[in-house]
Amino acid sequence: MQGERSAGDEQWSSRTGFVLAAVGAAVGLGNVWRFSAVAGTNGGGAYVLPYLVAAFVLAAPLLVLEFAVGRAYRTDVVGAFRAVRPWLAPAGWAAVGAVFVLLSYYLVLTGWVLAFALAALLGREFTFVAFTAGWAPVGYFLAAAAVVAVVVSLGVRDGIERLSKLAIPIVFLVLVGLGAFAFTLPGAREGLTFLFAPRTDALADPGVWVAALGQVFFSLSVGQGVMLTYGAYLPDEVDLRRSAVVITVADVAVALVAGVAIFPVVFSFGLEPSAGTALAFETLPTAFAAMPGGRFVAVAFFSLLFLAAVTSAVSLLEVGVSTATGNTRLSRRAATAALSVGMVVLGLPSALSYSAVDLRLGGVPVLDALDGSVGTFALPFTALLTVLAFVWLTEPAIVRERLGGGSIVPLLRYAVPIVLGATTTYRLVTAGRGGFGRVPDAIHPDAGVASLLVLGIVCLALVGWYWTREQQSSRAARRGRTERD
Ligand code: PHE
Repeated sequence: MQGERSAGDEQWSSRTGFVLAAVGAAVGLGNVWRFSAVAGTNGGGAYVLPYLVAAFVLAAPLLVLEFAVGRAYRTDVVGAFRAVRPWLAPAGWAAVGAVFVLLSYYLVLTGWVLAFALAALLGREFTFVAFTAGWAPVGYFLAAAAVVAVVVSLGVRDGIERLSKLAIPIVFLVLVGLGAFAFTLPGAREGLTFLFAPRTDALADPGVWVAALGQVFFSLSVGQGVMLTYGAYLPDEVDLRRSAVVITVADVAVALVAGVAIFPVVFSFGLEPSAGTALAFETLPTAFAAMPGGRFVAVAFFSLLFLAAVTSAVSLLEVGVSTATGNTRLSRRAATAALSVGMVVLGLPSALSYSAVDLRLGGVPVLDALDGSVGTFALPFTALLTVLAFVWLTEPAIVRERLGGGSIVPLLRYAVPIVLGATTTYRLVTAGRGGFGRVPDAIHPDAGVASLLVLGIVCLALVGWYWTREQQSSRAARRGRTERD
């Protein structure tokens, strides 16, 4: 009986609705907090090229695969794996479990962002250290969880899609505004150079590639069943490849614009670009407090981050809710309520790890322990299972038909698993050796601005080329259809 959904009531209203919801799932804390942390510790410009290559060559094809599989089976993650081989169902459960752990601490971070936004709005004195010395982080975690639960209980179209249609345009506009503002700062040139000046020497460093890959997969929310779940609500006529390209471009653009907004601030105030996780929550707020109009910037920055985080957290909860409604008799409301209790219980230790309790696991805060274990290693693992089930164990003809043939099939069949396997091994081997921090060498001060321009033009050209090609092929397909009739 699994996977029998009443068609129609759980579907995106249009291609735009779907694309915005998927962009909402992808664009999150990862694009701002994690991207800048990873870029900062990997020498900025050294890392942007591997990041772009990984996004378009490896992550985007996986995005297409997940959408196609979701739409083909119109069911939840577990149901999709089970449809390939009954013994694969545990792979689906593994993905759901990993997503749930991720959600539990993602909501803690979302709560922090909410606290920062409110404090800036009310003009209150606020530091991360003081905030996490009390109980407030637990309260904000519960608030964030409640918001996410309400959105998901409203349903695919009335909850998730409606929120994304509202939030994503705001996120884009505010971010572009912040990026433009950053150009007026004294450290703009230095910041852009740090982020965009290519450094060919670093391309030979596997650590940079591994970091970029991990970041891209996380940022695009691929390999964990999130996009598969969203694919199940896709109308039949939506073009998956074109949507995947649009979603990838949007996600990458948000990360890069966030970098354009953040690194000029970092260099204007003499902050440490390689501060890592602390960058968004500790270093930047100090800079906001010190700059003219900083309160306004802080409100804008943290509100957009909150919106972005909520649309991602919603997608994570939806994976669980769709699995629960698909495999039990629970209604959406009941499933959301039950799973919300679960996510609060599971997230509590993470929330407490940055509070008066200072809860630790093996010496590290629970939140960091979860992010470093499940958050880092579950994704490549479940991504491999996804490729195994839906490419290797599925009829080649079906795979080709679902994906539309071309280079995407060998990329998914060989490149993605090889690269995922290799990078995960590398990570396991080098784990514990710390980050890959390095200081950029002397580079021409205008190199960053120039590269940014080139990058923008190349992106536009690529999107334009892809668009016209798709346009042509859909016209050809339409012509073929009319001739046959
Ligand atoms: N992509 C989201 C972000 O960038 C996080 C996420 C990861 C969501 C994996 C779902 C699955 O914040």
